[in-house]
Amino acid sequence: MKKILITGAFGQLGTSLCEVLSNESILATGRVIITTEKYRCIELDIANQKNVEDVFRDYKPDIIIHLAAMTDVDGCEKKPEIAFDVNVKGTENLLANFNGKFIYISTDYVFDGEKGPYFEDDKVNPISVYGKTKLYGENMVQQSDIDWVILRSNIIFSYNDRTKASFVNWVVDSLKKRQMITVVNDQWNNPTWTNDLAKVISIIIEKNVGGLYHYGGGDFLNRLEFAKMIASTFGLDGTLIKPITTPELNWFARRPLKSGLYTNKIELDLGIEALPIQKALDEMVSLL
Ligand SMILES: NC(=O)c1ccc[n+]([C@@H]2O[C@H](COP(=O)([O-])OP(=O)(O)OC[C@H]3O[C@@H](n4cnc5c(N)ncnc54)[C@H](OP(=O)(O)O)[C@@H]3O)[C@@H](O)[C@H]2O)c1
Repeated sequence: MKKILITGAFGQLGTSLCEVLSNESILATGRVIITTEKYRCIELDIANQKNVEDVFRDYKPDIIIHLAAMTDVDGCEKKPEIAFDVNVKGTENLLANFNGKFIYISTDYVFDGEKGPYFEDDKVNPISVYGKTKLYGENMVQQSDIDWVILRSNIIFSYNDRTKASFVNWVVDSLKKRQMITVVNDQWNNPTWTNDLAKVISIIIEKNVGGLYHYGGGDFLNRLEFAKMIASTFGLDGTLIKPITTPELNWFARRPLKSGLYTNKIELDLGIEALPIQKALDEMVSLL
């Protein structure tokens, strides 16, 4: 059985991925770990070269699924040196010590959001430090001479306590407390359920494909529409959600507005179909 090392395994996507791959030989790694009986877990800070060398020497992975990243988009803008350390140097540390199959999870933030949705061969032009560091990571992976997959996704969602990054948690928890929230109506994407994305990663391993792929949910919508869909799926009061525009929010980092990822290539190569978002939300709720 191939040995699979997962970085950032205790974040939003990592939690689902470890669940989906729990019958494989996986090593779940993270800066802070949550131990379980189901698979091996070990501390690994990817920005620490010595830590990477030690773990790789002991475990000798055949496949790496690289999820670990500084994902706080405004945080990256405020502290670009930390973003660079984790997203660029961290990726470099992993590549320097590895010779097997490398699966790098990337983002639509490598695009500027002027004319999405995007195909794999569309021109990249990141407009934030987060997007730039993720693109540097992509470039390093592509320039390495190992077997690689870059899988770009967008607006990854789950209902999960373990992450600060969950949009669903924020919407659901606010509405449960009957708090009014404002959600942007000018950012367009095809949000992606973590379980669905995790299954796609497992098929990538099973079919042993390589190259650059996009994957996202089966519908393109704006964030306000998505929040309203979440509210109705959880039986909560969607009238508490009010529209706002991105410029009104004065966020520190710029966001791609007209974004989203076309999934034609991966659907054809893997024989899969992107999951409609309402179906993903219904399945997610049925598992709670
Ligand atoms: N969230 C999205 O909408 C989205 C969209 C497209 C692509 N992606 C990509 O998908 C991947 C997973 O994202 P996610 O949504 O699961 O984010 P997440 O919940 O923030 O998970 C990222 C994980 O990386 C860990 N990490 C940060 N710095 C580290 C370091 N130096 N060493 C080891 N681990 C470190 C974090 O741990 P701490 O909690 O300790 O910081 C966290 O557990 C990322 O590569 C991201 O760029 C995300």
